[in-house]
Amino acid sequence: MKAILITGGAGFIGSHVVRMFVKKYPRTKIINYDKLTYAGNLSNLKDIENRRNYVFVKGDVCDYKKVMATLKEYGVDGIIHFAAESHVDRSIKDPFAFAKTNVIGTLTLLQAAKEFWGCTLANAAQSEKKHRFYHISTDEVYGSLKFDKRLFKESDRYEPHSPYSASKASSDHFVRAYHDTFGLPVVLTNCSNNYGPYQFPEKLIPLMINNIENNRPLPVYGKGINVRDWLYVEDHARAIDLVFHKGTVGETYNIGGLNEWRNIDIVNLLIKIVDKHLGRKPGTSKKLITYVADRAGHDLRYAIDSSKLRKELGWKPETSFPEGIEKTVAWYLENKEWVENITKGAYKRYYKDMYSNRK
Ligand code: NAD
Ligand code: TYD
Repeated sequence: MKAILITGGAGFIGSHVVRMFVKKYPRTKIINYDKLTYAGNLSNLKDIENRRNYVFVKGDVCDYKKVMATLKEYGVDGIIHFAAESHVDRSIKDPFAFAKTNVIGTLTLLQAAKEFWGCTLANAAQSEKKHRFYHISTDEVYGSLKFDKRLFKESDRYEPHSPYSASKASSDHFVRAYHDTFGLPVVLTNCSNNYGPYQFPEKLIPLMINNIENNRPLPVYGKGINVRDWLYVEDHARAIDLVFHKGTVGETYNIGGLNEWRNIDIVNLLIKIVDKHLGRKPGTSKKLITYVADRAGHDLRYAIDSSKLRKELGWKPETSFPEGIEKTVAWYLENKEWVENITKGAYKRYYKDMYSNRK
């Protein structure tokens, strides 16, 4: 492809994919289109910002004119859409922000792509050869699993519980509707929880690492027994590369790590690793664990069946959890400046607002 527009490329997962694509496809222009909300951070991409095939455009996915002008300026033939409000707790405080970016933003992008590429059902077979619209979604659209062996499959019905997952579910429906109605060549993936470098410390793993390091309370929601399926972010990026280039148009692929952990076990593991790195006596930070009021509508368990992606495209995670979590802790402890820059000011206010009356 000549030019790929990546929305939300200054965020956590998007920045890993931008980096991978800029390096792997030197003859393709990679346009990082990002509004730079609190979660967007250009320092995530310092190492590649001067590459000739990389360009940053500051813009909102809800801004149709700007999106269209960017598609035209670079002759974009592929889109990978990450831009979203991504944190469940924030979606409980401000659902409208999630409807706006995640639903209207996705719809805006779909409409601009369809118009720019001139997609119709009649020319869908032609368009499929030249263009691709890749929508990044989440396993949270499927709702919640019990504590049994069942895993989310692509064919599961949507049953979102949080404003975040409801907005992502809605955006997924619009993406499929644009494929079925206008022949837009779409692919979708629904991935489980990611972890790794550059994740904003509002999410469980980086928040806990930062708090352990700074001897702050470790706020565990409810009883800490909720289960998430964790995948190293670079394994997600490799899956995205595969699906973007080899996935079948109109299809959805689930991506997951087959790596289920209860939150409290993750917190205890992080305590062990961080204490070891900092030369503290083993278990010193256990006293920081603080059980706090549960998240409203807290999904009990997520776990993904990614056998379709494994069978059809030969993907599998390459980073084991012990390896990935060690690398992640080491990265956060070594990149103090990155952490300090984003945990002052607005983050302090966010933290106080979210956690101070949570008992
Ligand atoms: P993030 O919050 O770290 O980054 C989001 C990025 O989008 C930021 O750079 C932000 O500035 C940008 N953005 C937000 N609103 C925008 C707007 N209106 N216009 C343009 N840019 C805007 O998110 P993430 O964790 O990297 O997640 C990326 C995508 O992957 C999201 O769509 C999310 O739903 C999905 N996803 C995330 C996970 C996970 O574990 N983090 C798992 C599965 C799926
Ligand atoms: P999070 O990282 O917000 O991801 P998601 O809710 O999208 O899965 O949270 C992961 C799990 O950790 C979730 O069950 C909520 C829990 N959690 C805490 O117990 N304490 C916290 O401070 C945070 C941020 C999350």
